[in-house]
Amino acid sequence: MKIQFHESTKTFHLYNDTISYIMCVLENGHLGQLYCGKKIRDKDDFSYLLEKMGRPMSSYIYENDRTFSLEHIKQEYPVYGSTDYRQPAVEILQTNGSRISDFRYQAHEILHGKPILEGLPATYTESDEEAQTLRVILKDDVTDIRLELLYTIFAQGGILARSARFRNEGTKAVHLLNAMSFSLDLPDKDYIWMQLSGAWSRERYVKERPLEQGIVAVDSMRGNSSHNHNPFVVLKRPNATENQGTVMGFSLIYSGNFRAQAEVDTYDVTRITLGIHPQGFDWKLEAGESFQTPEAVMAYSENGLNGMSQTFHRLYQKRLARGYWRDRPRPILNNNWEATYFDFTEDRLVEIASKAKECGVELFVLDDGWFGGRRNDHAGLGDWVANKELLPHGISGLSRQIEALGMKFGLWFEPEMVNKDSDLYHAHPDWILQAPQRTVSHGRYQYVLDFSRREVVDCIYGMMEKILSDSRISYIKWDMNRSITECYSAALPADRQGEVFHRYILGVYDLYERLTSAFPEVLFESCASGGGRFDPGMLYYAPQAWTSDDTDAVERLKIQYGSSMCYPISSFGSHVSVVPNHQVYRHTPLHTRANVAYFGTFGYELDLNKLSEEEIEEVKEQIRFMKKYREILQFGTFYRLKSPFEGNETVWMSVSEDKKTALVGWYRVLNGVNMPYTRVRLQGLDENLLYENVESGTEHYGDELMNVGLITSDVTSGEVSPQDQPCTDFESRIYILKAKECETD
Ligand code: DGJ
Repeated sequence: MKIQFHESTKTFHLYNDTISYIMCVLENGHLGQLYCGKKIRDKDDFSYLLEKMGRPMSSYIYENDRTFSLEHIKQEYPVYGSTDYRQPAVEILQTNGSRISDFRYQAHEILHGKPILEGLPATYTESDEEAQTLRVILKDDVTDIRLELLYTIFAQGGILARSARFRNEGTKAVHLLNAMSFSLDLPDKDYIWMQLSGAWSRERYVKERPLEQGIVAVDSMRGNSSHNHNPFVVLKRPNATENQGTVMGFSLIYSGNFRAQAEVDTYDVTRITLGIHPQGFDWKLEAGESFQTPEAVMAYSENGLNGMSQTFHRLYQKRLARGYWRDRPRPILNNNWEATYFDFTEDRLVEIASKAKECGVELFVLDDGWFGGRRNDHAGLGDWVANKELLPHGISGLSRQIEALGMKFGLWFEPEMVNKDSDLYHAHPDWILQAPQRTVSHGRYQYVLDFSRREVVDCIYGMMEKILSDSRISYIKWDMNRSITECYSAALPADRQGEVFHRYILGVYDLYERLTSAFPEVLFESCASGGGRFDPGMLYYAPQAWTSDDTDAVERLKIQYGSSMCYPISSFGSHVSVVPNHQVYRHTPLHTRANVAYFGTFGYELDLNKLSEEEIEEVKEQIRFMKKYREILQFGTFYRLKSPFEGNETVWMSVSEDKKTALVGWYRVLNGVNMPYTRVRLQGLDENLLYENVESGTEHYGDELMNVGLITSDVTSGEVSPQDQPCTDFESRIYILKAKECETD
């Protein structure tokens, strides 16, 4: 990996074994984009890639010159208001009403490693050899705003991380109205755009469409990254598949309002931009103040979607997630939510936990309903003290009882919210986000605390810190069950109201940072009504997230498949729940529910006391299996083989680092009759190793399994199913493949 600056041509070349990213200082001082793609050899001069030309109806910067129009030049951080009419990366409102800026190159520095982004989640390095960073310093002379563009190239994989920082070095305040994290101009539009979109309980479905002239975008203006759209998009070449072809993924490390878009211009140039959504954003930058944008990450792969996803998985698992649990297999848990909802007592909880312990569960999690006056979702949020009527021994007593059973104890919080029926609201009715003289809308009967205010975050921290210190808590589920409306803070002046959405998220990050620093061994799981804030920003603080409130195994195939495009399997909260399922009322076999949940953190969302003895034996076996293989399932190299969005069967697999063990998950939604014989070609094995299919006892070489395929047919293939075969819908299998120690030629 290297960052090379060629003085004679003012060209920067950032490269590693996989990618080259080439930029230059343009004659007007802006940064031009020359090349982003597969690694190419370095040289001094790539200026022929600058397409300067005169075109009808264009506007030009220099007098008596009809070549230099920003409209036709590929750029790195385009400004608003000059000769480029496309969507800008930056727009700044000045005291005289002008929104025009002109950032010109001043200097640059090349750093080893990667600087941290203060107050924001970001990727990091553990040694200087892992990455190099280029800081390009530009200046707008009229306003004296300094702009620093940060580019980090990692040694491993086609990864480039970017962000921007503004500093007002002038004497007058300005307003940042748009400050994107990432902008990149690509020379053509021959891509399929892919996004992860959906809704509550069907998050992150894969949706695609070809790029065409115009704008395609996904966004959130809800204050959370949202169930509807994820801050992640892909551009893939039309011939790219899961395993081959050029794919670029773009991910924003942020949990609030965002926009990710591609604009194809008149000449088929594609501009990708990612950053905080400009709608409603207005950050006042006083003289001497700075503003740091969130970080965006690009992952480039020549090995198809799987190649891109594996690049993100490695980066986000090892260099975004942090702390004690980052590399540790996750505890198998039993959460009481779907078992009891609000209807529990201390005895009932201990009864559920005891059975879980008997089955081998390691962590018991008490979900919503344990605090204040909460007996339903109308009351209690904000009062983070145990309800002694329900829990006579408090959280401290209950957590000790659970530990005495030989399990760890975990607890649910929803720190950002308050019900009007709570002591907190009565004491501080002005602590919620609300606009003067306007309706205050609710979601789930709850209101959003103004986390842009330090004293509010301090108060919540105080309550949480007390419980964590007094009790034996090993895990926290941090929920967030509504989006923001009437985003207005009583603590900020009129000209800073456009900062509230972002300040809110900074407050959330601050609380996470304080809690994770004070309680470094507590495992945090983020959640927002399931996957409403399933984003890389959260991953920095909480290495796992409740993937979706939909716990049905068939529904989860699509949700987990889509999520795997960007996020590591170790981050998927995934549980076995009851049948009929509480979201779709479907009956799926117990083994299928587990076979889907294994590809995640794994746990149970039910009262095991209600299962039959036969089912309990099956659960015990599932837990034994998960304990044996969770390292590979959660941290192995993950491959998608067959998509639930394309057919009746889904197949995916995880391979151990030494390639000696592979676990293949095969799932069929509906059974058929007289079906074709099926096989699936595996990925990621060692072609020279002989693998035993543990279940069947058959042996196959790696090259055979990857080229001929693994036979997945069952009794329904080629004939009508025999009467005595319980071949059902929603069938699934896990194939365990283990390398025999003999290597062959
Ligand atoms: C939404 C979460 O996604 C559920 O798992 C559960 O914790 C409920 N909130 C509790 O209110």
